[in-house]
Amino acid sequence: MSGKNSVVSFQQAKDQGRKISMLTAYDYSTAKLMDEAGIEGILVGDSLGNVVLGYEDTISVTMEDMIHHGAAVARGAKNALVVVDMPFMSYQTSVYDALVNAGRLMKEGRAGAVKLEGGKSVCPQIEAITAAGIPVMGHLGLTPQSINAFGGFKVQGKTEDAAKKLLEDAKAVEAAGAFAIVLECVPMKLAELITKELRIPTIGIGAGKECDGQILVYQDLLGMFSDFTPKFVKRYANAGEIMKEAFQSYMEEVRQGSFPAKEHEYAISDDVIDKLY
Ligand code: KIV
Repeated sequence: MSGKNSVVSFQQAKDQGRKISMLTAYDYSTAKLMDEAGIEGILVGDSLGNVVLGYEDTISVTMEDMIHHGAAVARGAKNALVVVDMPFMSYQTSVYDALVNAGRLMKEGRAGAVKLEGGKSVCPQIEAITAAGIPVMGHLGLTPQSINAFGGFKVQGKTEDAAKKLLEDAKAVEAAGAFAIVLECVPMKLAELITKELRIPTIGIGAGKECDGQILVYQDLLGMFSDFTPKFVKRYANAGEIMKEAFQSYMEEVRQGSFPAKEHEYAISDDVIDKLY
């Protein structure tokens, strides 16, 4: 769909059976390319911690990190809805903290919406943030900020109890006012059921094709991040290899003295140079 995307266009997409495409981005020029390609939603994910800052997990990501990268992405995205992640401990501590920090992500990070992880336990936060006019995207299933509680990156909702809890959490997050929910690492049939039960769109990552939309971390899609590659990733290009080859060619030309060439130089009159001796 062309034109400005918003929580309203996301809902229309679900109502009209159109799939929503989202990607993560963390900087101006990547966001601009995605926006020009027509991607409807850009998430400034706290996966920033892994793929940009080189941390092992998302725990150390700060509000300042999210504001800095959120504002850069917002400058590059004219039409995509920019969703900025609330980092670990920016909303779990209290409803007040959640409200203040969501406000900062909108005012300073220029977010069009914020995303936070969790089910029933964070519904008071979702209610307060949405009541303040800030759209909230939920995130259920494998929620990376709770990685230490999960004991690793594992598919969620596989037992009857876990599946029931996931469905109940999704309904609670919707009732609290979220405009969409990310489902991460959830079995396909459970994600399908949740998608059918909810009025708001589900955005899947490792949750199968029946979700209302999909999201991927762009470095995974482009083959730029090799620390770990989850099963759900499809690589659409091998940009990592292309980049490495270009870096090597540059290095060789610098060493050989063939870069920079004549066409990369700035000229100055010989008279000026002569007067310097
Ligand atoms: O931080 C992130 O990139 C995310 C996506 C994986 C949904 O939360």
